[in-house]
Amino acid sequence: MDSTTYNDVMENTNLEPATQLQGKRILLGISGGIAAYKTVDLARKLTQAGAQVRCVLTEGATHFVSATALQAVTGVAVRHSLWDEAAEAAMSHIELARWADTLLIAPATADVMARLALGMANDLLTTLALATQAKLCLAPAMNGMMWRHPVTQANLAVLQQRGAKILMPESGSLACGDTDTGRMPEPVSIVDWLAQLDIPSLWQGKKLLITAGPTVEDIDPVRFIANRSSGKMGYALAQAARDMGAEVCLISGPTQLKPPAGIKVVQVRSAQQMFEAVQCHFNGIDLMLAAAAVADYRVEQVAEQKLKKQGEQALTLTLVQNPDIVAWAASQPNRGRVIAFAAETENLLAHAQSKLQRKGVDAVLANSVAEGAGFDQPQNQLTLVTHQGVHEFPLADKSLLAQQVLTYFASTECSI
Ligand code: C5P
Repeated sequence: MDSTTYNDVMENTNLEPATQLQGKRILLGISGGIAAYKTVDLARKLTQAGAQVRCVLTEGATHFVSATALQAVTGVAVRHSLWDEAAEAAMSHIELARWADTLLIAPATADVMARLALGMANDLLTTLALATQAKLCLAPAMNGMMWRHPVTQANLAVLQQRGAKILMPESGSLACGDTDTGRMPEPVSIVDWLAQLDIPSLWQGKKLLITAGPTVEDIDPVRFIANRSSGKMGYALAQAARDMGAEVCLISGPTQLKPPAGIKVVQVRSAQQMFEAVQCHFNGIDLMLAAAAVADYRVEQVAEQKLKKQGEQALTLTLVQNPDIVAWAASQPNRGRVIAFAAETENLLAHAQSKLQRKGVDAVLANSVAEGAGFDQPQNQLTLVTHQGVHEFPLADKSLLAQQVLTYFASTECSI
């Protein structure tokens, strides 16, 4: 248990970009909607996530986004015409269609969706869409009336039936001045969506309960006791579990992280509140991952007013033990698997093994926090200690590590 400053706990701690796009060959088709202006950032983020990106613009898109800017961020010339002899000589459109493993069209206008649904090949982008075997992914964006129009919805249904993946437009303020459905999601959301399309649905139909972040134990209205957990590991697990098809409930202490969309989030502050939330959501779960750094103690009596200095006298706070949440979970009858975490500064394996016995859990995921390692870092290294043995997860980005951990638990029956 550490006492810490507000800034330590509230430091900005966003999750790392998806790593599943490493080595992917993405053909980014950009059609002529105002959201095209976001595609320079999109192309940059895809490149940063490790993908190779080549851009193809429709005629309309050239009015909204600069080919020079797209070339600058991807390092490759941008194409927009079937009739560009120099570009065709360098790499023909058929070669380009074969090169891609993903055709992402963002934004996809009503017009492009209609032409794709009909199988037209009247420009470079639609010709590529017919000539490629790449996975077709669309981020439609348009005026709300155009989006809801029965013909657009019928085209959408045709494309979905044919296997196209669709990232639905969001609601919000549109370029036309309306507040309506039709906005293209932000580039970071498109990158995350694309990354999770390739993750196997190993947890489909399963319920996961994940605790994350620190707990904050108030001393008085302005001071508290907490610890250095950023919540990144727990949030990465929640996101990976969601991407693998699980129904996820994330119970989180105060963090600076944005919870992943599409999961149930319960925000709490103290260990006692986290305990109550876990009790409330424990029934029927298949797996609990207790990644929260729960404070072992809280002050016996929270002062109603700010404590004042008492001359030269030392201040004595009486601390009482918090309930051990994961031990409670492990003691429940007919429960799903319960996994504890252990952040240790020394004797990692010995402490993890004793925690496994003491808490009665099925496994302990231990990591070293000697000299600050693991805290608030994008990467982590975990040692899994079960009743059957030990398994190492080498140093990796927390998002990748989360997937590896969930893949392991999906395929390995570790339990007491
Ligand atoms: O005993 P220690 O705090 O080191 O154990 C860490 C593990 O126990 C973590 O999984 C943490 O979430 C869980 N824990 C808990 N309730 C507590 C203390 C720890 O669930 N009061």
